[in-house]
Order: sequence, then structure tokens, then C-alpha cells
Amino acid sequence: MINFVRTIISLTVVFLASTAAHAVGDPVKGKELFIFCMACHGQSAEGVPALNAPANAGQDLWYMLRQMNNFRAGIRGAHPEDTFGAQMRPMALTLPDQQAVQDVVAYIATLDMPEPPITIEGNVEAGKKAYETCIPCHGARGEGAKALDAPRLSKQHDWYLVSQLNNFKAGIRGTHQNDIYGAQMRIMAQMLEPDEQVRDVAAYIATMEFAPGEEYTPPRSPASILVIIGSHQVHGRPEDLFIIRRKSAAVLAHNREHHFFHRQY
Ligand code: HEC
Ligand code: HEC
Repeated sequence: MINFVRTIISLTVVFLASTAAHAVGDPVKGKELFIFCMACHGQSAEGVPALNAPANAGQDLWYMLRQMNNFRAGIRGAHPEDTFGAQMRPMALTLPDQQAVQDVVAYIATLDMPEPPITIEGNVEAGKKAYETCIPCHGARGEGAKALDAPRLSKQHDWYLVSQLNNFKAGIRGTHQNDIYGAQMRIMAQMLEPDEQVRDVAAYIATMEFAPGEEYTPPRSPASILVIIGSHQVHGRPEDLFIIRRKSAAVLAHNREHHFFHRQY
């Protein structure tokens, strides 16, 4: 077992070394490229409801990078019913190369957190209750957790949260065979039943404040199995693990008491 764990760790180190070799984005070059994105996402990437374009300002850089590459690879935005994703996909493809993708997201990361208006009517109290399932990955304040691959949700437009949750539920997003992270989120969205829960949870997220720069650390339970999530490690008692999904080597598990989820290799 120890050897197995070591192998995973060394593979992770190799992986990290190879991603580190990627040039870091240049926000100055990215600003030029962003002029094109402004047409839909707004001057400060605050999002434009009339064009169904979400806010990107304030979003985690690693998440934007993943989504840009998902759009480019057809992992997102290629489903025949994904009307809005189909608008974004060709835009992501206009960027000439990976450096340009890195540059544009590096620029967006310099922009201020937006203040989207509340547009969804939902039962905030019911939404708060429904949001308890989301906390393990997205954090109590919707701040997101890189260690669990889950993006920030606070300060995103509520109508966009609704459309993405519905997309996940309907399999319009998260069903491409290479959409590892979307597939995890799809299971969670499917738990939002009946449909009003989607609006309620979005209405609750819309009430969240977010202090930029805050870090969310996923909870740990005291003892004693080692689980590796990418380059991160989490400990948990095996008897607490409730396996909700198993795909190839990855297991998405749920600790009943602490409601944390992880992938176990
Ligand atoms: C033609 C309008 C349009 C243009 C131009 C455009 N986008 Fe988008 N973008 C969209 C729409 C619409 C969506 C929402 C897709 C959906 O609903 O799934 C989106 C989604 C995104 C997302 C995913 C956000 C998330 O939270 O998941 C990112 C990142 C993004 N765009 C970045 C960019 C960048 C960077 C550019 C410029 C290179 C750009 N967009 C240009 C319309 C556009
Ligand atoms: C097991 C961890 C996990 C849980 C629990 C979880 N999510 Fe997610 N969520 C993710 C991951 C991972 C992604 C990123 C998917 C991707 O990269 O395409 C995501 C993405 C999202 C997105 C898309 C954001 C965007 O900008 O496009 C929304 C909205 C969302 N989650 C809402 C929720 C809500 C609401 C709940 C609770 C009902 C929830 N999530 C529970 C892991 C989780």
C-alpha cells in the first residue's frame, strides 16, 4: 500500500513539474486579447445577462483555464442542446495557442470582484438547507476549493448558476467522457429535486458575501485512511466513507458526518 501511495505521489510530482514548465500568463498581453471577450462578458468581465455571458472577474484562475481548455477541446459547449456553450466554444477557439489562453485569464484575474444584481426569486431558507450538500466542495461562503476542483460560486450571476445547474441535471454539461470534473458536479446537481431547489439554492448563493483572498480548506476527519486528491492528501475513517460513484480508478466518496467528498485512488 505504501509503495502504491509513493507511486501516486511521484506521479503527481512529475505531473506538477510538467505543468510548472508551462509559461505563466502575461496580463499585459492578455488585456489586448480581452478586448474581444468584452463584447459579451462586459468591460470588466462583470457578465452581461442580455448575452447570457457570466461574470469571469473574481473567478479562480485555475478554473477559468480549465473551462477555456474544455471549450477548446469540445468537452464543454459541444452538446447539441448547449445553446450558450455553443456560443462560447468558437470564441475560446479564436485564441491562437495555450500561451494566449494563459495570458487572457491572467488579465481577467486582475479585475475586481463584480456585484451581480439579484434576479432570481427563490426560497432562500430552503436554498440554505439545500446548500449544505455543496459546502464540502464549494465552501460555506461559496468561495470554492482548488483542492477539490470546485470553483467559486459567490458573486456569480444567479441566472447563470441556475442555467448551469439545469445543464448539469439534464446532461447538457458534465457528460462528455473526458469531463472528469463536470461529471462530479453532475451527480450533485441531480440531487437537487424537485426543480425548485435549483432556484432556491441559486437564490441563497446570491446572498453570499465573499472576501477576496480567503482560502477554504476542506474539513479533515481525525483518523485514518489516506486519500489523495491530485497533489493533496485527505485523511478519513474508512467506515465513514460512503461511495457515491466509482469510475475506473477514481472513487468519489462521502463522509456522512463531515460531508466531505474526495476521489480515492
Ligand atoms: C459571443 C459572446 C462571447 C464572447 C465573445 C466570449 N464569450 Fe465567454 N461565454 C459566453 C457565454 C454565452 C458563456 C456561457 C456558456 C454557458 O452558458 O455554458 C461564456 C462562458 C465563458 C466562461 C465559463 C465561465 C464559467 O464560470 O464557467 C469563460 C471562462 C469564458 N466565457 C471566457 C471568455 C473569454 C476569455 C473570452 C475571450 C477570449 C470570451 N469568453 C468571449 C459568451 C462569450
Ligand atoms: C463533490 C464536490 C462537489 C459538490 C458537493 C458540489 N459541487 Fe459544484 N462543482 C464541483 C466541481 C468539481 C465543479 C467544476 C466542474 C467543471 O470543472 O466543469 C463544480 C461546478 C459547479 C458549478 C458551475 C460553476 C460555473 O462557474 O460554471 C455550479 C453552479 C455548482 N458547481 C454548484 C453547486 C451546488 C449548488 C452544489 C450543491 C447542490 C454543488 N455545486 C455541489 C464540485 C462539487
